[in-house]
Amino acid sequence: MTNALMKVLDQTFAHPSGRLGELGGKLMARMNAPVEEQVVSLAKPAANETVLVIGPGPGVGLRAAGTRAALAIGVDPSETMLTEARHRCADLIADGRVQLRHGTAAATGQDTASVDVVISVNNVRFWEDRRAAFAELARVLRPNGRLVVSITRWMLPITDHELVQEALAAGFSDVNVALQRFPGPAPAVLQLTARVSP
Ligand SMILES: C[S@@+](CC[C@H](N)C(=O)[O-])C[C@H]1O[C@@H](n2cnc3c(N)ncnc32)[C@H](O)[C@@H]1O
Repeated sequence: MTNALMKVLDQTFAHPSGRLGELGGKLMARMNAPVEEQVVSLAKPAANETVLVIGPGPGVGLRAAGTRAALAIGVDPSETMLTEARHRCADLIADGRVQLRHGTAAATGQDTASVDVVISVNNVRFWEDRRAAFAELARVLRPNGRLVVSITRWMLPITDHELVQEALAAGFSDVNVALQRFPGPAPAVLQLTARVSP
């Protein structure tokens, strides 16, 4: 792949910015909606729980989490995506059920043991330091809190086993991975579920 194409893809999907990022947001909101919604169902946030959504992009999963949980907080390093997600979740933000702020998986800005569920869809590949990120997510989860990390399988640059080992090293337990398939030609999706030890 040429450097120019890599840069376009980066600005469109990985670190969305400017007009390309806005286009990427629209495409992701449409193409990734089934997996974003399935992951929220998998995480099963209860009506009294707080959910932290890592890299919500245009905010489809954040919206789904905000309609089920007491509070869904989205952290994303892209100002373009924060703007899109704010539009998509405007009514839930006004109701105090969704919050959005700048952040990354490794620096969420969240208090220790303050959330019940952490969800990450299609962004573990972009975590600059996965070890630091898994440690951060273990820190912000309450005892027994749940983690769901979902990624299109071919996008993950390491093996499933290595991902499991990284989660275990950060203090997660009950770590499992499964391949999820969606109708149509969509590629297989790897989903890691885990729990913070009580
Ligand atoms: C491919 S998009 C996925 C968006 C959405 N979850 C979806 O599946 O449609 C990747 C998202 O991760 C965000 N991102 C990039 N680096 C990140 C990091 N280190 N921590 C958290 N999010 C990150 C990007 O800004 C972007 O919103």
